[in-house]
Amino acid sequence: MSFTEIRIDPQSAERMTKQGLRLQRVDTADRVAFEAWLQADARGFHGERIAGTQLEELVGQTAYRRTSGVWDDTAAEPETPIATVSSWPLAMTVPGDKQVPAWAISSVTVAPTHHRRGIARAMIEGELRTAAAQNLPLAVLTASEATLYGRYGFGPATQGAELTIQTRRAGWAGRETAGRVHLVSLQHIHRSGREILERAQLGSPGDVTLDEQLWGELVGVVGDEDNAKQNRAVRFDDADGVPQGFAIYSVKHSEGENTERVATVEYLCSVTDDAYAGLWQYLLGLDLVGSVSARLRPVDEPLLWLVANPRAVRAAAVNDHLWVRILDLKDALEARRYSAPGRIVLRVSDPLGFADGRVLLAVDDAGVGTITALESDIGVPDATAELTLGVSELGALYVGGVSAATLARAGRLTDVQPGSAIAFDAAFRSPTTPWLSTWF
Ligand SMILES: CC(C)(COP(=O)(O)OP(=O)(O)OC[C@H]1O[C@@H](n2cnc3c(N)ncnc32)[C@H](O)[C@@H]1OP(=O)(O)O)[C@@H](O)C(=O)NCCC(=O)NCCS
Repeated sequence: MSFTEIRIDPQSAERMTKQGLRLQRVDTADRVAFEAWLQADARGFHGERIAGTQLEELVGQTAYRRTSGVWDDTAAEPETPIATVSSWPLAMTVPGDKQVPAWAISSVTVAPTHHRRGIARAMIEGELRTAAAQNLPLAVLTASEATLYGRYGFGPATQGAELTIQTRRAGWAGRETAGRVHLVSLQHIHRSGREILERAQLGSPGDVTLDEQLWGELVGVVGDEDNAKQNRAVRFDDADGVPQGFAIYSVKHSEGENTERVATVEYLCSVTDDAYAGLWQYLLGLDLVGSVSARLRPVDEPLLWLVANPRAVRAAAVNDHLWVRILDLKDALEARRYSAPGRIVLRVSDPLGFADGRVLLAVDDAGVGTITALESDIGVPDATAELTLGVSELGALYVGGVSAATLARAGRLTDVQPGSAIAFDAAFRSPTTPWLSTWF
């Protein structure tokens, strides 16, 4: 059975029925019903009414997603859902250049007329049960507010930084790169860049695979028409002519000097360090540009070490970005690789019950972890560490985006044995800073 055909979660549906509401899937082949759902989704985020090509693209490219909503038959326009949610399976990169299957949850909106009645809770808990029923070890999402999803067991697993670089002050101090930058069209990147993106993502824990709609939005050829007009693209090829990265950027006039325009890096992805350096060198060297801004970058960009003056690179905002919800302790923890061997006991509490339990994570010399379920009181004499933590904290720690030592200092987890957080961090650290490079 396709994931779109999985029946609506009966527990959540019953909760809505008790309030006189209907939680249902949308038949996305029914154009009228699907369009009403898409408009409700846009309205829920205070977006513009969707029309024209943008509507056709959304209809064509997101119909495959599992699309659900809540209807109030007593509303003035009962055909428009008063709440929306969509979901689909994707793959998320974890340390060790591996990918783990996960359930993406998106388009969570509840109309202002129906706020604070438990509708979002019913939809999200229903999505988690739907994911668990498919044996998916994780659910993932990006959040409009940081205060919404911890209560359902999600933890903020990656952060994103907004950077501004004053290009002339920054100067370039990086090494020479073997390869060259080509200016190409957006359509060129849209056609052939996905393969580069997928190779880059495999080395970037926290990144997720994109569907056609998200890929088109990333390049700027679908969605906001201004992007299609303004975005430019460059590709970096290595010395053998193999494409190893690309960047999408736009340059806007500023109010002041002609030479002080602002370039915005919409996306920069690189498989190799040469591609990374070569693309940044190109962007910081643009004529008529005084500053470059980049909205969603990893929190420890090597860029700081490539410029002559790192104080010319400013992080304007650092925010939580990817939220991870562990649904299956064994499958989630065995999917990634670890940086140090050891035996770590985890006592995980999960109010919704999916990942509740006490387990032993045994990591061998190759970094492969094996999970064994433990009785709650059994002693593990050769364990190097034992931690008590909530499932939300484990989600935050999962790909190494924060250290257990930091969470221990904040009182968010407990070292059952002294020094456990340090042993945990040695195993869980990620060689590259976890980063989700886009929104979904
Ligand atoms: C956020 C939103 C989906 C919440 O919907 P809702 O049906 O009112 O939420 P619920 O009534 O199910 O509330 C569930 C819990 O979330 C809390 N909550 C709801 N909205 C919140 C908000 N904006 N900030 C913090 N907490 C919020 C509630 O207090 C409740 O907490 P509790 O169960 O611990 O008591 C809704 O306000 C909305 O559509 N907002 C605009 C779009 C948006 O931001 N969507 C989220 C996309 S990631």
